[in-house]
Amino acid sequence: MIKKMDELIAHLKSSGFVFQGSEIYGGLANSWDYGPLGAQMKMNVKNLWWDFFVKFNPYNMGLDSSIILNNNVWKASGHIDGFNDPLIDCKNCKSRWRADKLIEEKYPDVNAGKMTNQEIEDFIKEKNITCPKCGKCDFTQIRNFGLMFKTNQGVIEDENSVVYLRPETAQGIFINFKNAQRALRKKLPFGIGQIGKSFRNEITPGNFIFRTREFEQMELEFFFNPNDGNDWFNYWINQVEKFLTEKIGINKENYRLRKHDKEELAHYSSQTTDVEFNFPFGWGELWGIADRGNFDLTQHAKHSGADLYYLDPVTNEKILPNVIEPSVGLERMMLAIMSQAYEVETLEDGTERVVMRLNKQIAPYLVAVMPLQKKIGDGAYKVYEDLLASGIAATYDETGNVGKRYRRQDAIGTPYVITYDFDSETDGMVTIRDRDTMAQERIKISDLNDYLINNQKK
Ligand code: GAP
Repeated sequence: MIKKMDELIAHLKSSGFVFQGSEIYGGLANSWDYGPLGAQMKMNVKNLWWDFFVKFNPYNMGLDSSIILNNNVWKASGHIDGFNDPLIDCKNCKSRWRADKLIEEKYPDVNAGKMTNQEIEDFIKEKNITCPKCGKCDFTQIRNFGLMFKTNQGVIEDENSVVYLRPETAQGIFINFKNAQRALRKKLPFGIGQIGKSFRNEITPGNFIFRTREFEQMELEFFFNPNDGNDWFNYWINQVEKFLTEKIGINKENYRLRKHDKEELAHYSSQTTDVEFNFPFGWGELWGIADRGNFDLTQHAKHSGADLYYLDPVTNEKILPNVIEPSVGLERMMLAIMSQAYEVETLEDGTERVVMRLNKQIAPYLVAVMPLQKKIGDGAYKVYEDLLASGIAATYDETGNVGKRYRRQDAIGTPYVITYDFDSETDGMVTIRDRDTMAQERIKISDLNDYLINNQKK
């Protein structure tokens, strides 16, 4: 199995999954656009997440909050004061670095992310850490670089009109906690899920779509009474694993759980476990499950003055619920799925085929319809139109020889190909080919819908 990142990127580009952002203008660094197949696949992944965590979940409900929020939200959450990275400049060659990463690259066991700026500067001097570009050890003082994107709201561009693009969707959920709970008369425990864009002016974006400055998050904030005796933290870790293996089709050997050390925890978290995935460039965080306690609701109650307490209908006790947050980036999920699915296979006859073994609910098309020859296209096209009308994601392909057309569909992950041949005109049957086994069987056109819908669920 060859899974080099460059090869995967080239394949995703040429087949219409992911394009370089602003390409005709020479691109915009680390920005990516999703082509026709990538856009459909993203939608499919979002629908699976939404169905599992929101629509068909007995506890949870959904939300769609704004990207731009009142600045006091970010003061309360700690983002304005604390969401920044320490930057340092080399006085000699003028290159710019993340100071904590300079240390961690040389000393991987040191958690520089938890050091103060002074401690980082002292460590760099003491160990004589040099600039990776020019080799000199002559740095400026550290300055903090805010990771939130700023813009201005309204017609006057001054400091009073500054607003931020959200760096996580979670805060939109916390500030709507009381609204949603009251409107739907929800009793604890319950969760609020949301899918939406987030923005971070990352200093070190990269690894294709793994870390970008604009990305989409799928976040659940699950609220519960800390006295109810349940282990909701592990419950949600299990649900995340269930979703990954059963809904998305991630193989168990391709992910692992990693518990954060005390020093590594974010300021709001008392325990965090990451699901790490074995990406083509190595293991990396895919999904974080954090125990946020009542940090956020406490902060928002304090800063806004609003009563965010929940009145327990049985005990009449007023509490601020605790929160478990499973949070995942959609594009990271896409990269995990596509890198697992992409294979270059050598067939028995020695030829190679590129195949994307995408789960049937995730593949952009469930089925491709092709006439054996263009002259029987009308009958084949009717089959295609009928599938679309029944809500089955189908595509139509009549150019090139049949073998080439099969390969094209394998390469974009289409699980089934239907071939309409000369006999189909008279016997009302077609050949259906399975992407993974390449086995073919003949079935009645009138049975196609049931066959495809039943097999998609498997
Ligand atoms: N609300 C909690 C939160 O945002 P996080 O660990 O900073 O926590 C959660 O982000 C998830 O969002 C990550 O596990 C990752 O999947 C995704 N993510 C974070 N930053 C990202 C970036 N720059 N590009 C792509 N995905 C990102």
